Amino acid sequence: MTLQQTDTCFAYPPTRMPAWQIGPVNIRGKTFLAPLAGVTSLPFRRLVKECGAAVVCSEMISAKGLFYNSEKTLSLLAACPEERPLSVQIFGAEPDIMARAAAEITSMGIADILDINFGCSVKKVIRQGAGAALMNDLPMSRKIIQAVRRATSLALTIKIRSGWDPSGSQAVALVDMAEKEGVDAVVCHPRTATQGFKGYADRDLIRKLKDQTALPVIGNGDILTPADALEMLNQTGCDAVMIGRGAMANPFLPGQAEALISRGVSHPVTASDIFRKMERLIQLYVGHFGEMTACRMLRGRLPWFVKGMPGCTGIRASLSRISTTKQAIALIRDYEYRLSL
Ligand SMILES: Cc1cc2nc3c(=O)[nH]c(=O)nc-3n(C[C@H](O)[C@H](O)[C@H](O)COP(=O)(O)O)c2cc1C
Repeated sequence: MTLQQTDTCFAYPPTRMPAWQIGPVNIRGKTFLAPLAGVTSLPFRRLVKECGAAVVCSEMISAKGLFYNSEKTLSLLAACPEERPLSVQIFGAEPDIMARAAAEITSMGIADILDINFGCSVKKVIRQGAGAALMNDLPMSRKIIQAVRRATSLALTIKIRSGWDPSGSQAVALVDMAEKEGVDAVVCHPRTATQGFKGYADRDLIRKLKDQTALPVIGNGDILTPADALEMLNQTGCDAVMIGRGAMANPFLPGQAEALISRGVSHPVTASDIFRKMERLIQLYVGHFGEMTACRMLRGRLPWFVKGMPGCTGIRASLSRISTTKQAIALIRDYEYRLSL
């Protein structure tokens, strides 16, 4: 059985792309795994990297949490050399605290890129004046970027939304300012802060930003197939794409998109590929979190992988209740055997 068939589309030159730069960092490839709170922990990032993503991103890290040495915040900074280049994202509303977080992460030597979150629209973050709230406050955004720029020698990126109204004028102003203040690249998820995930990402805004700035622009939003990634590049002229929800459901997606973009080839994924990656994810989670926590977390992850497969209801329900990894692997093997009959 072949899942996730790709449309073969050769609009993009079918050649290996040369490395390109974000600040001092060499980037080999065009696909980024998005920061996803509660998802892009070290084991998940490693899996997606092993499946071919060019760059992976940590989930957002609270600058204040780091300032107070919160154990939970520190645990989110677990990283490893195999996943590099790694982008670590911070969020916060106070320039000095953001600068301290930037300096601390830089001195840890785990990251290549430091990203500032200007896009998160969840109430808890907005109420602090952080995330997308900053898109309403250009002077404060400037202070934060200046403070962080001074505090780190890492490549510095910003991840933004369209702003608070659909015109995109706040995004345009923010990118203009950021370029002058020494930011090295921009990621844009072109939905408004109030839109959440409703409607569609406005690709015209990505095109507009690309025309406006000399900085690399990474386009994000609604990439669910390799063909979507190629289309985003072709329609907007962006330098790379960032994939979030599509990679949660299919960790192969960034790698599949990479194959299509760089070599013009579709890279179908078989059911057996998926089962082996599920087992790899189990191994990575156990290695990082220990068996008990890994099982608790995997209950929410493993069912994503088999969604859409024939007769998956039973295995999805069973995977969401696992209490040992042995049980999870037995479920996967049994389901694989039944599919092969
Ligand atoms: C579960 C979840 C967690 C997210 N966490 C973050 C985050 O920590 N930082 C961030 O900048 N964006 C976060 N986002 C937004 C994504 O990075 C991305 O911009 C958005 O999902 C649009 O891309 P997509 O259509 O490929 O999913 C999150 C999105 C989801 C669905």
